[in-house]
Formats: sequence, C-alpha cells, structure tokens
Amino acid sequence: MTDEEIKNEEEQKTEEAPEEEAEKVEETTPETEETPKEDSEEDSEEDSEEDSEEDEDEEEDEGLEALTGIGPATAKKLEEAGYHDAKSIATSAPGDLSAAADISEAKAKKIITLAKDKCDMGFETADKLMEKRKSIGRLTTGSEEFDKLLGGGLETQAITEAFGEFGSGKSQIAMQLAVNVQLPEDKGGLNSGCLYIDSEHTFRPERVMQMAEHMGLNPEDALKNIKVARAYSSDDQMLMAEQAEQYLQEGGIKLVIVDSLISLFRSEYVGRGALASRQQKLNRHLSTLHRLADVYNATVYITNQVMSKPDMFFGDPTKPVGGHILGHSATFRIYLRKSKGGKRIARLIDSPNLPEGEAIFKVTGDGIVDN
Ligand code: GTP
Ligand code: MG
Repeated sequence: MTDEEIKNEEEQKTEEAPEEEAEKVEETTPETEETPKEDSEEDSEEDSEEDSEEDEDEEEDEGLEALTGIGPATAKKLEEAGYHDAKSIATSAPGDLSAAADISEAKAKKIITLAKDKCDMGFETADKLMEKRKSIGRLTTGSEEFDKLLGGGLETQAITEAFGEFGSGKSQIAMQLAVNVQLPEDKGGLNSGCLYIDSEHTFRPERVMQMAEHMGLNPEDALKNIKVARAYSSDDQMLMAEQAEQYLQEGGIKLVIVDSLISLFRSEYVGRGALASRQQKLNRHLSTLHRLADVYNATVYITNQVMSKPDMFFGDPTKPVGGHILGHSATFRIYLRKSKGGKRIARLIDSPNLPEGEAIFKVTGDGIVDN
C-alpha cells in the first residue's frame, strides 16, 4: 500500500467511524440481553476449537512425515516450530529448519528438497487450466438480471465480493445464496450446503426460512444445510476459514460466506500504525478463502461495508470508498446501491472476463428477485 493509499484509508476511516458505530449499536441492541449466554457459548466454542485443533495436529504429524520422508521425532519438532505442511518446509531456509528441528544443515537441505518435490508448485499448461475451468459451477442470485451481469451467476473457484453502504443488500444476498446453493443444478443451485461465517451477527434463520419457502424448499431442511459460525474477533474469523477446509473436504459444501470480511479487522486494528499488520492478516485470510474456492471448486461470497460520501458525485464513486483495501483480492467485485421501492442496483466493477455493467434487482419479503 502506498503512503497515499494509507492516507486515504485513514481519512476515510475517520469519516466512516461515527456512522459505522451508530449502525453497530442499532444492530446489536436486541442482542445485548443475551450477552452472558453468548459469552459462555463463546468460551465453550473456544474450548472445542482448541480440542479439534489438537486432533488436527495429531493427524498432521503423520501427514508431515509422509510428505517429507522424515522421522516422527523430527516431524514433531517441526510441528512444534510451526511447520505444518510440506509447503511451509519447502519455502524455509536450511538454517532455520536445522535450528527448529535440531538437525544438521545438510539434513535440513535434503528435507527441503523432498518437500519441494512433494509440493509440485510447477506451472500448468493453459489447456489444463481450461479443463479445470470447465468444471466451474454457477450459483444463482435469485434474479435473472443480476445473474446475467455475472455471466450466469456466481462462479465456483472464485471469490465474489459485494460492497456497499448499510442496507444495500449485502447480507440479504448472503442469506439468499445460502438457500439457493441447495437447489438442484438445473434450478441454478449447486445441490449442496453452505458454511456461513457471521461476523456481524446479522444472520437470521427466520429470514432464511422465508427465502427457502419462496424457492420451493422445505424451510426446516434448508436451515439444516447451513452451518453458521459467529466470529467475535478477527482471530476467530481466520480460524473458522481455516477450519472450513475440513467441511469442504468431507463434501456437501459448495458455498462459503463471510459476512462481513473486514468489520472485525477494522475495529481491532485502529490507527495508522496498525494498518500494515491488519493488511497482512487480511491478505492471509483472503488467501485461505481463495484456496478453499480453488481446491474444492466452491463459491466464496464476502461482504464489505463502505460508506457513500457526498463528494462521490465528483469522480468515480466506486474507487475511493475503502474498496481498494480488497481491490486486488476478490475475483469479482459488485458495488451495490439502494434505489427507490426496495430496488437495488448492482454494478460489476472488477472482473477478469466479463464486461462492466449494471443490473437492477429487488429485495422483497421473498428475498432477492427480479425488478
Ligand atoms: P450492513 O450489513 O448494515 O452493511 O447492510 P447490508 O448491505 O448487509 O444490508 P442488508 O442486506 O441487511 O439489507 C437490509 C435491507 O434489506 C433492509 O433495509 C430492507 O430494505 C431489506 N429487507 C430486509 N428484510 C426484508 C424483508 O423481509 N422484506 C423486505 N421487503 N425487505 C427486506
Ligand atoms: Mg449486512
């Protein structure tokens, strides 16, 4: 990030802050009564997360051994030093590895070479990529016009980001997608379930039931196919994305939602000094999400709240609005605007293969529909 971008970001943050806070208060008010219960839930969640992480580590010990052809004792030491997979070893320096695992540098070099072979980070010919792209699935938004803007719906193997001001429909789309992904393919779904990381605590099962009913699904069944996790910190959120892999591996999940991607990061990393570490963490988080999309042929939908500014009328409204934080991360970026009578305008901003354009859809009691 250049100095100027950092400055813009800072300016924008200060402008956003009061409104954002006001909105938060409103959003969370009904939930404050539940606070003690939530706290204890959080504790137990954290406990179980730790447990499952330990299980995972045990499994990975074996994996690490198998991957790099190293003995159990060395594997354990490497694990403890934070080397969890072949890739982390392949990219390390012999000196570091030798110190971490208490082995000779020659042995470290050998392990690194073996790990590199296993990783197969080599180039792929474009025809193979084309082959892989043929397996791309499409997920309907519920509005034909909106789908058309996206070339037929949200793509798998990609991250789609919706950004816009409060109430522009980002979370409504999220809940609608969680329903639609369950539809059969000929109806625009992916015949599978959804993982929903809810960092703003705005997921509403009753809203999902309304939408499911409209799509001809059994509302109770629809809820069972959505796994929701509430994130209370950016660390929670990052861990959830990492743990999502287990569910995707098991199969039956083709959609991962993060609503919202950066609000927790924004509130935790305040001030200019924190920007670099925030960005670093966000990048890591996004790369986890990209991996999920890519490896498991899944769709990732993320949201990003930005404020509309009065000076938007001069110049491009979509450029200076904090969106640039993620400017180079999502595959598709949609800018959402409110219009009269429940209407919403979606504008496709960044796409590797589609023209920029706009679509109008509506948010109704039934969910996302054509205007
Ligand atoms: P933030 O999370 O605050 O940044 O906003 P968002 O973009 O996620 O907004 P969200 O998707 O939650 O949209 C909220 C808006 O959707 C409301 O202001 C309503 O206009 C509309 N909406 C939500 N539920 C219903 C409903 O049951 N019926 C109708 N007609 N509209 C609804
Ligand atoms: Mg929302």
